[in-house]
Parts: sequence; structure tokens; C-alpha cells
Amino acid sequence: MKPPPVVRVRAPAKINLTLQVGPVRTDGFHDLATVYQAIDLFDEVRAEPRPDAVVSVESRDAAGRPVPGVVDDAGNLAARAAAALRQHCGVASGVHLRVRKEIPVAAGLAGGSADAAATLVACDLLWGLGADCTTLLDLAATLGSDVPFALVGGTALGTGRGEHVQQLAAAPTTWLMVSSSPGLSTPAVYARTDQLRAGKQPLPPLVGHDVLGAVQTGGVDRLAAVLSNDLEPAAIALRPGLADVLSTGRAAGAAGGLVSGSGPTLLFLVRDDVHAEQVAAAVAPVVTARLPGARLSTVHGPVPGAAKQVVTDGAA
Ligand code: C5P
Repeated sequence: MKPPPVVRVRAPAKINLTLQVGPVRTDGFHDLATVYQAIDLFDEVRAEPRPDAVVSVESRDAAGRPVPGVVDDAGNLAARAAAALRQHCGVASGVHLRVRKEIPVAAGLAGGSADAAATLVACDLLWGLGADCTTLLDLAATLGSDVPFALVGGTALGTGRGEHVQQLAAAPTTWLMVSSSPGLSTPAVYARTDQLRAGKQPLPPLVGHDVLGAVQTGGVDRLAAVLSNDLEPAAIALRPGLADVLSTGRAAGAAGGLVSGSGPTLLFLVRDDVHAEQVAAAVAPVVTARLPGARLSTVHGPVPGAAKQVVTDGAA
């Protein structure tokens, strides 16, 4: 019997090289100016046809186990992405989504957004829709602020609440990543940022030419000088152990270090994989003491987004 057609799409995690957060808006979101970069850490979505009109989802980690913190119901962002595309294009059939999660959950790496972006691309192919890029980007923006970036990937300027993306040329980067649990809630980190700023009016967010120049031409010291994250003080207030690891990594010779997005993932900018191992050895004891159970790994950017990550090795 012929196996059912399956479409597999990967989507990358994102980091923010700079994340400037403006005042809270009337819709509850904050205006942002950010430089996103996609890194070589991927979730994968397999979309399989269903004979009925149902959208179902099953998320597993790399070892095939259920993923704590991920709900496999209609509220799952991948399921919402499939349902949104289905409704927008008037599709009658359903889909079963198998999500293989490598990107840590609630980590400031936009893993849920990656799953949604991969699902849009996979279902578009499975259902033979041929939706244009603008349609997918518009649907992505309705699903979450980081979903449009997960579609395009690479390096991009993000504005609005993060959903307007403009691709940028960028030099390659290497990072030592410290992934720790439990995750941090993104709304909680934004809310704490507002509390910490109480009484002060933040400036309108803007990514300057110094940042764009450093991102484009590279050079770890130049790039390190412009790394910034306005959510970092709030993430550290909620998870104080992050501060000790950050200061240890900087003192150990990392060119720069910052919290990824809303945290708690930490990133150290390094020259290459060997430098990453050196910094990892230096921070490991403090990581063990202050962020028990955390994992160290080396990641690289930029990589393409979900739109260019259709898996065609025939191993479906
Ligand atoms: O867009 P997304 O669903 O990823 O946002 C999750 C939460 O993060 C929002 O509900 C809001 O609390 C916060 N957020 C924000 N401003 C942004 C993006 C996210 O306040 N620009």
C-alpha cells in the first residue's frame, strides 16, 4: 500500500541581537525595534493528510517523549496556524501535525512561532494551495509577533510589535548557548519590564546605523558592542541566577553576552567553535550552581527560515 503523502518542514529558533522595547500600546503590545537572527537549532513539522476535517497535533521531543509545557490541542500554535490557513483558503480536508521539538519551550527562542511558521509552509504544500509570500506573512502576523520572522529567517529588522520584517545582510555568528528551565512567561517578562520602568517614559525604539553596520560587517568585538536587550533586567529580576552566569561568561573572555528575547536562554558571542568550548568550560561550574540542569551548546547564525526549509530527503 502506498504511504500517505507527508510534507516535512523545519523552522529555526531566533535570537535578538538587539531588542529595544518602547512604551506599552493601547492593544497591550509594545512597539519594538529589533534585529532578529535565525540560528541552526530547528523544530520540524510533518504534515499528514486526514480524511476528516479535523486539525490535530502531536508534539514530541527528540527522544519521542511528550514535551512538558506544550499542549497538543486546538490552542497549540501549530494547530492554530493550520486552522487559520485552512479557513483563509477554504480547505475542506484536515491535517495531522507531528511536531518534533528541539527548540526549548518558553526559552526566548520563539520555538512556538517556529512551529507555526513551519506548519504554514507544510500545509500550503500538502493542500496544494500555492499561497503567495504576502498571504503567508499576513497570516503569520495574526498568529504571533515572531511568526513572520520564523518564515523568512536569516537576519532581519523587526518593527511594529515585531511582525514587520525587513531582511538584512549579515556576517556569520557563533554563540555559546545556555538553555535552562523552567521557562519564563513572555507576558510576565514584558509586564515586569513595565514595572521596572514605572514613572519613566521609554524612548521610541530605533535600531541605529551603528548596529546595522556591525551586524552586516561582523567582527565579534564590533558586534559585541551593540548587543542589547531591554527585556534583560526583567528576565534577571525573575531568574537572578542568570546574572552570575552572564558576568562569568564575560569575564571568561566571551566577546559579549545577553539574554535571548524574554529569556531564560543566555547567549555568549564567541569567535568560533573552539572559543565556545573555552567559554563553556569556564562557565560550567557557575551554571551548575546557579542554573541547575542547564545545558550548554554551540549554535550559529544566520540560517534560512521555514519558507526555505522544506525537507526533501525522501525519509518521510
Ligand atoms: O505576539 P506574541 O503572542 O508572541 O506575544 C506574546 C505576549 O508577549 C503578548 O501577549 C504580550 O504580553 C507580549 N508582547 C508585547 N509586545 C510585543 C510582543 C509581545 O507586549 N511586541
